[in-house]
Amino acid sequence: MLKLENVHTFYGRIEAIKGITLEVKKGEIVCLIGSNGAGKSTTLMTISGILRPKEGRVSFEGEEIHALPPHRIVSMGISQVPEGRRIFPKLTVMENLEMGEYLRGKGEIPPLSKGGRGDFENQLEHVFNLFPVLKERRKQLGGTLSGGEQQMLAIGRALMSKPKLLLLDEPSLGLAPIIVSKIFKTIRELNAEGLTILLVEQNAKAALKSAHRGYVMESGKVTKEGKGGELLDDPDIKKAYLGE
Ligand SMILES: Nc1ncnc2c1ncn2[C@@H]1O[C@H](COP(=O)(O)OP(=O)(O)O)[C@@H](O)[C@H]1O
Ligand SMILES: [Mg+2]
Repeated sequence: MLKLENVHTFYGRIEAIKGITLEVKKGEIVCLIGSNGAGKSTTLMTISGILRPKEGRVSFEGEEIHALPPHRIVSMGISQVPEGRRIFPKLTVMENLEMGEYLRGKGEIPPLSKGGRGDFENQLEHVFNLFPVLKERRKQLGGTLSGGEQQMLAIGRALMSKPKLLLLDEPSLGLAPIIVSKIFKTIRELNAEGLTILLVEQNAKAALKSAHRGYVMESGKVTKEGKGGELLDDPDIKKAYLGE
């Protein structure tokens, strides 16, 4: 479904990712682990079109996407939940969710609401079923939500564009263990419904447990790949990322 081939991405003269090759197959949860500064966020931003690779190829469902603007990539079915959530604090929960739909409309596919409110309402109901607390707080400003609720809102907003592939950047960062379990449970549920997921996590153990496959990144390169369970049992990974 998604393929990165020999992708290099720079910030000015700094090469943050140095020839990444990876793939995500339809229906998979794939996780990307690695320490701080390894290039995980840069990889996601290169996929979503926020950053342009200097070299290499990114393709989605057989089409090259690395030269497309971000809104076109959203309209093709890729949606990103950014690191640190970045919801709109001065907008209500409902307005934040509408924004997710709007972003999809900037591409070639018309917004869901253009076909009547039906699709919009369906997607909204789906998000509210996943996260009932968002329904309760729909008139509240985003900035007044707890960290966990903001993460749910960020995921909900990304889902409003009806993605085929969801990119999640450290969804568990800074959240209490009980909320972390809820977020991982939701990720598995979404996947069971057919959504393909690329998950970036510092919480390597939880990520590898939920993922079908994983890649390890170090200093802008992929150093290891394998099935979730294989990576969990790998002595080097245990030592470096699982604190064992
Ligand atoms: N805006 C930026 N300008 C310059 N360098 C950056 C910027 N963002 C990230 N970097 C550098 O790129 C590398 C990869 O960062 P990042 O992708 O954020 O890593 P990770 O998400 O794995 O923690 C790091 O060395 C980081 O310092
Ligand atoms: Mg990051």
